[in-house]
Parts: sequence; C-alpha cells; structure tokens
Amino acid sequence: MLKPNLHYQELKDSYLFNTIYQKTDAYLAAHPGEKVYKMGVGDVSLPLCPAVIQALHDGVEDQGNPDRFHGYMPERGDLSLREAVAGYYREMGVTRSADEIFISSGACDDLGDLLELFDRDNRVLVTEPAYPEYVDTNLLAGREVLHLAAGEADGFLPAPDPDIQADILYLCSPNNPTGAVYDREGLQAWVDYANRQGAVILFDAAYESFIREPQFPRSIYEIPGADTCAIEICSLSKTAGFTGTRLGYTVVPEALTRMGVSLNAMWARNRETRTNGVSYILQKGAAAVFTPQGREQIRANLRVYQDNADRFIEVLDQAGIWYCGGKNSPYLWMKCPDGMSGWEFFDYLLEKIQVVGIPGEGFGACGKGYFRFSTFGSPEDTREAARRLAELLGKGK
Ligand code: MLT
Repeated sequence: MLKPNLHYQELKDSYLFNTIYQKTDAYLAAHPGEKVYKMGVGDVSLPLCPAVIQALHDGVEDQGNPDRFHGYMPERGDLSLREAVAGYYREMGVTRSADEIFISSGACDDLGDLLELFDRDNRVLVTEPAYPEYVDTNLLAGREVLHLAAGEADGFLPAPDPDIQADILYLCSPNNPTGAVYDREGLQAWVDYANRQGAVILFDAAYESFIREPQFPRSIYEIPGADTCAIEICSLSKTAGFTGTRLGYTVVPEALTRMGVSLNAMWARNRETRTNGVSYILQKGAAAVFTPQGREQIRANLRVYQDNADRFIEVLDQAGIWYCGGKNSPYLWMKCPDGMSGWEFFDYLLEKIQVVGIPGEGFGACGKGYFRFSTFGSPEDTREAARRLAELLGKGK
C-alpha cells in the first residue's frame, strides 16, 4: 500500500499567512461594511511599472509573430536576462558570470527545490525568527532542523555558535520578519563559520533593494569567502512588484563544491529535469526591470514603501516602543506592549483599530511577544493604520 509522506503531520495545520487571511476574513464576515487595514502579509500594493508592462505587451506580440515566436526557453533562463542580472551585481562590486545565475519562477519555489541538492541526513540550522518556508520544507524532506534563537540582546541578528555543527544554514538579510540587517562583519562571521564547517549558506536576499544605508551589504558575495559557501536566492516580487507575476533568480557560484562535486553543475542538471524554464513573456517583462527606465520607475515605487516604513517608525519612536527594521527593510518588528503575546496583540489591534499585522510567534518560538508590520500597503491605508496605531498606543491598554 502507498505510504504518504507522513512528515506532513509535523507541520502546523495551516501555513502562517493563510491563518492571517482566515482570521481577517472571519473578522470582516462578523463586521460587515468595516474596513480592515492589511499590514500583515507582505504583498505589494503598487502595480507593475510602465516599462515592465510595455515589455510584457511586446512579449505577447512576439508570441503571435512567426519570426519572433519563442517555444521552450533555456532551463537556466534567457542569456540576455542573466547578463542583465550579472550587470546588476556588478553595481554592488560583485562579479558573477551569467552561467552562475539561474532565472526562477520566484524565490519561494527555488528555496524548496534547492533542497534537492542536499542529502537528507544533513542538519539544518535556521536562525529564528524566520520565514516559515525554511523550516516547513526541511521537515517535509525529513531533515533535522536546529533553531538558533535571536532576540533583543543581539538586535535579532544572531552570530554563529561554534559549538553547533550544521550543514545547511539559512540567513535572510534584510531579515523577514524582523527587518534587521547584517553588517559586513556580521555576515563575515557566518561565511567564515560555513567555510570552516563545510556547510552551505542559503542566503535569502529577497529584500536587498530596500537597503538605504550603503554600509550594509546587499549581496552575500560582497563578503570575502562567500563564493565557496553560499547560494543566493533573490526575487523581483518585492523589488519590482512581481508577487503575482512571478520571477526571481538564484546564484550558485562555480567555486561552490562539496566532496568534489560542483553545486552549480548539479543545479543546472536539476533545472533540466525539473523545469522547462520560465515563460518567455515574463522574462521579457523582467528584463525591463534592469533597463535605466525600469530602474528609475521601480526606485519610485520603492520610495513609496520606504515612506510607508517611515510612518511606522515615527509612531513607534513617539510611543517609545522597542522595534527593529523599517529603515532598510519593508518590515518593522516591534515589542508588544504590556507583555502581550503576538496573538493577543493581533486580536487587540484587529478589534480596536482594524489593523492587521503578524504575530511574532508565527515565525518561531523566540518571536513570542513581538509583532511584524509590513509596509507594502497603499500610502493611504498605511497613513491611516499608523494614525490609528499612534492613537491606540498613546492611550495605553
Ligand atoms: C511575507 O509576508 O513574509 C511575504 O509574503 C513572504 C513571501 O514573499 O512569501
């Protein structure tokens, strides 16, 4: 008889973000006509920029033209798009060849698929609080997951513990959910630790474009030694509003080998088996993100989200509440007032001011008592949510 993957039983009943949607819908069903300010799940509110829209239209036209039509696309992605990504890296002072860049259907997909490069017996270390997919995908594969808790004392930027032996390390900077950002020294410690242990870092750089202060690295490859220990996963979801359009890229350096095996060659082979590439039309749209016009237009959108973050920063500063993030990240991570748990604060905000955020404990046990706001809402909604929050925090519970 077929044996299902019983590791599914180790997962929580519902994925965190679905629980948030369900609770919000239940509130709206019980309060018809009320508006809820959604500062929870990090989904973008601004449309794709005009340069991308034009390129998508052009891609559709090409597909109807016998001379410009494209069938299957290369599994690694179109060469000109990979070269455009390599050019983007050059601006950070990072040299990556097009052969090290793989176009994907989004960071989320690759974060799961990449695990096929590793044996099931590898031990995984997740720095927490963490994006829930890191833990879930490894549990499903039957791997042992170690949790390295962060907290206020380390600014939610944990350093490696030399006593912990692990093979696959997850890092996300700017971090989801805390918005905290590693500086060069902090990342160097992780790179040195990984190289010493022969581990591989899966570096989630989905929020790199939100870094405003140039002293913070946007790519792990800005750190010496990262070539031999890190895979970087990036996405246009937040940078260019592609959450519903889907396109990202993953970098696997040619210098990254384990037991004499090239992980770049393995990943290329994996892509040949697992995908027929990302659609031509989407790759055409994505290429526009890297043109001067596209860059200028997405910068304008990023500024809107950064202004949103500033609204929350003002409120939390004014209320004298501990928080991190916001400055170089679209997420703010605050301490809940009056010793409330994240879920208590969630209910309190929804009930009193109709603002939705995400309870910290959804991102790991050490997130208990903290709360995440996303700044991807519309400026109008964000201003109103921030105003309501300021009033509520000013009153006290
Ligand atoms: C979030 O809210 O953390 C985002 O939606 C994560 C994601 O991109 O899936």
